Amino acid sequence: VAGDTAPAASAIPVSQSSTQSKSVTVVFGSQTGNSDALGKKVAKKLEAQGFEVTVSSMGSYKTGNLKKVENLLIVVSTQGEGEPPDNAIPFYEFLFSKRAPQLPNLRYSVLGLGDTSYEFFCQTGKDFDKRLEELGGHRIADRVDCDVDFDEAAGEWIEKVLLALGQGQADLLSEVKAIDSGALASESEFSRTNPFQAEVLQNLNLNGRGSQRETRHVELSLEGSNLHYQPGDSLGIYPENHPRLVDELIEALGWNAQELVPVSKSGDQQLLRNALLRHFEITVLTKPLLAQITELTGSPSLAILQSAGHEQELRDYLADRDLLDLVVDHSLIGVTAQQLVPLLRKIPARLYSIASSLQSNPDEVHITVRTVRYDLQGRDRYGVCSVQLAERLESGESIPVYIQHNPNFKLPEDPNTPIIMIGPGTGVAPFRAFIGEREETGAQGKSWLFYGDQHFSTDFLYQTEWQHWLKEGALTRMDVAFSRDRDQKVYVQHRMLEKAKELYQWLQEGAALYVCGDEKKMAHDVHAALVTILEQEGNLSPEAAADYLTQLQQQKRYQRDVY
Ligand code: 2AM
Repeated sequence: VAGDTAPAASAIPVSQSSTQSKSVTVVFGSQTGNSDALGKKVAKKLEAQGFEVTVSSMGSYKTGNLKKVENLLIVVSTQGEGEPPDNAIPFYEFLFSKRAPQLPNLRYSVLGLGDTSYEFFCQTGKDFDKRLEELGGHRIADRVDCDVDFDEAAGEWIEKVLLALGQGQADLLSEVKAIDSGALASESEFSRTNPFQAEVLQNLNLNGRGSQRETRHVELSLEGSNLHYQPGDSLGIYPENHPRLVDELIEALGWNAQELVPVSKSGDQQLLRNALLRHFEITVLTKPLLAQITELTGSPSLAILQSAGHEQELRDYLADRDLLDLVVDHSLIGVTAQQLVPLLRKIPARLYSIASSLQSNPDEVHITVRTVRYDLQGRDRYGVCSVQLAERLESGESIPVYIQHNPNFKLPEDPNTPIIMIGPGTGVAPFRAFIGEREETGAQGKSWLFYGDQHFSTDFLYQTEWQHWLKEGALTRMDVAFSRDRDQKVYVQHRMLEKAKELYQWLQEGAALYVCGDEKKMAHDVHAALVTILEQEGNLSPEAAADYLTQLQQQKRYQRDVY
């Protein structure tokens, strides 16, 4: 589903459309790297067509230059609750501040990346689009809001932008093919749109007996793929749905598992059961899907759920129900597979922060995955990818993967720069890659890890490796917080506050800060702890402390990989 679009483009002043400028500025705001890759791809295409292109991340864009820009293309993703990506925040805040200049000569267009299963779908792109108009800018092509499977919609936006910029000849348009972030940065033929079948070398549970958690350490072979990655990058995995859920769905709808259904626009067909296992998302509901199913079935109860006054109910329903719930709760009997299947989204890849260094593990990639299992409405629910890894992927079997480069979570260029890593739970994964890399390359910079989980005895992920690295010197310090070993909860941020003086000292020495793991609670509380530490140890006002962190972010000395 290519998302909704903004109102039609406003008229372009005649004086400008007749003397179209050849200079274009592309700015991107990226969290996981997709907008980054797309922005650079657009820039390349424009350059190839003779435009003078400036391309920049929002994090390093000099906002003072904005007044001089004639053509501005914005590519930006949206975070969980509708916020901009971390490194886009200063640019975003500048545009929405009183300091923002009027931009009557600006011609612009926005490409938003997002996910229709989130309430604030593409909110940041929408905000930019609206704000640039308010500042007097002229929209030269309607904004496009992309869902997870963004290639086609993004390609269409590029076509429209090229046309608007006056380079829309048919021969040029035919060059605009699917955008592929993976292929851009690597030499490999394998990418997000053409994943590599990686063989499982090892698959172990890292938690000890009696733990309430299960965390898989999965080692995959990249041999023969020519895929490369850096510490901080992520691995994309295309999972399969749980066979039990697929079978229950087919049964609930009275469908025939052996019936052929279309799996692509070009008309490829597969047996229904296979298609539901491998091609389509059945565990997440989105607003557009509900709307389409309502239209298809005319279900009165579904119509009520989406009507005015039921917003909270709808939000709650979308938050945790799957397609089987929808079918059962709204008695959607009688819908055929031919009608329903084409409405489903392609199953999106899951991204995991890579836990290995390619330097120390040539041809391998390791990930750390917590198994998600819970009960809801009397039915066992399973995390699609994590449970597949835990239950249905043994050594010797393979799974489709690709590398997702993440320029926003990278070791400092200078190997002597100290690093402070905060990664409770599976958030520790990229730091295993960081330290593995620093050990292998003989980096001399100090390193400090804050780690936490529920219990020391069963949940200390990679304990022996950290101990080895501490002893050998690749890791300088480690502070741990096991939250459920005592009556009082203790978390990583408590350990940080206890060590405030030293932590501040490290920052003054130029240390880079990294936070990985839970976004909603942990990363937020860790940020608050950092503000406190700066206030306390640096004698800063709350505003000055927040400013300090913004500056660190701009210098790439405060990077987050949170989910
Ligand atoms: P808990 O489950 O005992 O509350 C990894 O998941 C670790 O992060 C666990 O020890 C978990 O503790 C802890 N955790 C939960 N909420 C947190 C928060 N807001 N800040 C930091 N750590 C948190």
